[in-house]
Amino acid sequence: MKIAHVVGARPNFMKVAPVWRAIEKEIVCRQILIHTGQHYDVNMSELFFTDLGLPEPDYFLGVGSGTHGVQTAAVMLAFEKVVMALKPDTVLVYGDVNSTLAAALVCAKQIISVAHVEAGLRSFDRTMPEEINRVLTDQIADLLFTPSKDGDENLLQQGIDPEKIHCVGNVMIDTLVSLQGAIAEATVEIPSERFLLVTLHRPSNVDHEEKLKEIVETLAEISREVTVLFPVHPRTAARISDSGLTLPEGGNFQLLDPLGYIDFVALEKKAVAVITDSGGMQEETTYLGIPCLTVRANTERPVTVTTGTNILVGGDMKLLREEVTKILSGDGKTGEIPPLWDGKAGKRIAAVLKGHQG
Ligand code: UD1
Ligand code: UDP
Repeated sequence: MKIAHVVGARPNFMKVAPVWRAIEKEIVCRQILIHTGQHYDVNMSELFFTDLGLPEPDYFLGVGSGTHGVQTAAVMLAFEKVVMALKPDTVLVYGDVNSTLAAALVCAKQIISVAHVEAGLRSFDRTMPEEINRVLTDQIADLLFTPSKDGDENLLQQGIDPEKIHCVGNVMIDTLVSLQGAIAEATVEIPSERFLLVTLHRPSNVDHEEKLKEIVETLAEISREVTVLFPVHPRTAARISDSGLTLPEGGNFQLLDPLGYIDFVALEKKAVAVITDSGGMQEETTYLGIPCLTVRANTERPVTVTTGTNILVGGDMKLLREEVTKILSGDGKTGEIPPLWDGKAGKRIAAVLKGHQG
């Protein structure tokens, strides 16, 4: 029995780690880790292998950056060769990045069973590349592991056979739970005063100069009241540099390079609030009970809004400032942890896979 896992971009690493470990415990098999190389900077990839205790990838496809067509096709070309040589029994793909769809498509054509971890999420916004990746991956996956019940409902509505769907909970939260000890001992410098933690990388926010400028100016304004820590994603760094935009760095507005997982979550836990367009951070803040202001008009993770601490501010910078003011006056959104976000999702996935063995 050979179970292969395909990962490529930063959030994939947090998702594979608990599944890998649970399979190691529960199933007699050979596991193979395949890294597409979609993300490749040390602080977007290698650091996570150390932080998460993941083994070195067995295969590194080295696809790198490119347009959607180039990147997706490059993963398919390289991954197909690996699949043909390796003949895995099952391939697990994670999340909604280009590497996810490319690997799932190769498996479907090679008649290899593919399981999608974090299936069923929908923003219903097809201008987002991730939504296309989610819809198509779910259509061709043989097993679909959802993080919450809304995922099951979306899949059923899109005609997926209910037998294939398993609501297992949130693997990203498994990682957060399992690393609480290391996070508590993180050595990252935490500002003593109250601070906001910011990340931005969605093309809709950072690929349009005017939009990026408006967001950055708002953050700069906010930083007059409270320290803003902004670890800058490489896409965003590239856009800032292309646009010649000068950021008011220094004082209360601190730009950082992307951080490793343990240091980053240590900051996230201590932040007075998070401002982001990240998918994973909407979930982490809900789990941690930290108010989250999401700079997007929609979310594929509605449970973070209905049950958790997330508020969608869209592109409304006035609303963003108002919500920050509320939070600073102690009136931030509180919430609850959604069902099955309990650190055991990886275990449930391994149990389902075991049931499908033989
Ligand atoms: C990708 C995913 C997105 C996910 C995000 C997580 C797709 C379509 N997008 O977006 O869903 O939320 O990862 O972070 O799969 N770059 C570097 N070094 C790196 C990686 C990227 O410099 O290690 C720069 C390059 O300029 C590259 C740009 O970032 O062109 C974008 O990278 P890419 O992987 O295409 O998309 P992300 O914006 O990272
Ligand atoms: N993250 C990190 N370092 C950073 C920024 C984010 O470790 O500098 C973590 C964050 O805690 C979460 C994940 O990366 O676990 C989210 O990834 P990202 O925002 O890149 O992708 P998305 O979740 O939007 O797909």
